[in-house]
Amino acid sequence: MKIRGAVLLGLMILSTVAVAGVKDTVHNFSSSAASPNAFFWGTSQVCVFCHAVHNADPSSQALGNHEVNRGQLYTMYTSNTMDMNQTASPNEGSLICLSCHDGTIAVNSLNNLPGPEGAGTYGTPGGAGLDASGRLTSASHAFVGTDLRDDHPVGVLYDATLDPNFHAKTGNSQLYPDKLLSEGIYVECTSCHNPHDNTYSNFLVESNSGSALCLRCHIQ
Ligand code: HEC
Ligand code: HEC
Ligand code: HEC
Ligand code: HEC
Repeated sequence: MKIRGAVLLGLMILSTVAVAGVKDTVHNFSSSAASPNAFFWGTSQVCVFCHAVHNADPSSQALGNHEVNRGQLYTMYTSNTMDMNQTASPNEGSLICLSCHDGTIAVNSLNNLPGPEGAGTYGTPGGAGLDASGRLTSASHAFVGTDLRDDHPVGVLYDATLDPNFHAKTGNSQLYPDKLLSEGIYVECTSCHNPHDNTYSNFLVESNSGSALCLRCHIQ
């Protein structure tokens, strides 16, 4: 009985994980119910706003389908106490997020239209977070903009040998802090966020209770 109970509980946990997918989050732009501030009438696909199975952007990390502004100049975070090296602009693990969150590109600006055979449409924007052309505006709490001076630094080449207040890299992508590093080396938006899953709210990769997420990299 006990074993059966444990199995059942396991299955229940599994199924809870399975339903907490991107379609139930505000990143489902085909649904005004899931994403009341930002949706597109006339499209039923979910993944297509970020991924394409063909004709994806070859420079992207994961078959990216959203237009990314690689020429966009971002004002990077600076401070006197930064010890690690920072790239002049954010890398792929941030560019995809910023492509919508900096407010310069429409949420439905895609490489490859929802199919089949072009039968889908880009949809008509709705919701208070978007302007008439489908760009995120400062009316949305999720607007980040192009000035990143007020955001946690991104484009940082993680190197604890330059700052003793950080955990050393393990060289194993399954272990912290490496697990959180974009392309295995950078601190980017995807270090702290998983755009598919809102279990921990704000699309965090894990709970930040007790600042646990911060302490995966920072020692204090
Ligand atoms: C709002 C944008 C967005 C939507 C919608 C989205 N994804 Fe993603 N996806 C991303 C980003 C960004 C990455 C890259 C993550 C990284 O670099 O760590 C990614 C990565 C992936 C990966 C690579 C493995 C991983 O998890 O890192 C897979 C597989 C994937 N997505 C599948 C899907 C599927 C299937 C859907 C639809 C059900 C979907 N995604 C919807 C943004 C999105
Ligand atoms: C295709 C466009 C698009 C991409 C790509 C995208 N987002 Fe979003 N995101 C949005 C929109 C639109 C909203 C909803 C804004 C609103 O409701 O006002 C949103 C909401 C959010 C929120 C708020 C969640 C909440 O519960 O209110 C967070 C956090 C977020 N996104 C982070 C990210 C991160 C990090 C990435 C990259 C890994 C990313 N997004 C990629 C368009 C996008
Ligand atoms: C070091 C970790 C970390 C990085 C890197 C990071 N975020 Fe966040 N982000 C968070 C945390 C933690 C929250 C939740 C803040 C809260 O609860 O007040 C958050 C909240 C947000 C929100 C919700 C609105 C808000 O301001 O609270 C958005 C949108 C967002 N992040 C987007 C981004 C984007 C885009 C990037 C990359 C440019 C990024 N984040 C990089 C940790 C991070
Ligand atoms: C993926 C690793 C990682 C995570 C997770 C992370 N950080 Fe950071 N953080 C860094 C790195 C790397 C730097 C740049 C350090 C340097 O250059 O010396 C940094 C810089 C900072 C700075 C600026 C320090 C300065 O000298 O100007 C603050 C503040 C900060 N982080 C707070 C946080 C908080 C709060 C959280 C949790 C929400 C968090 N960080 C999560 C890696 C991380």
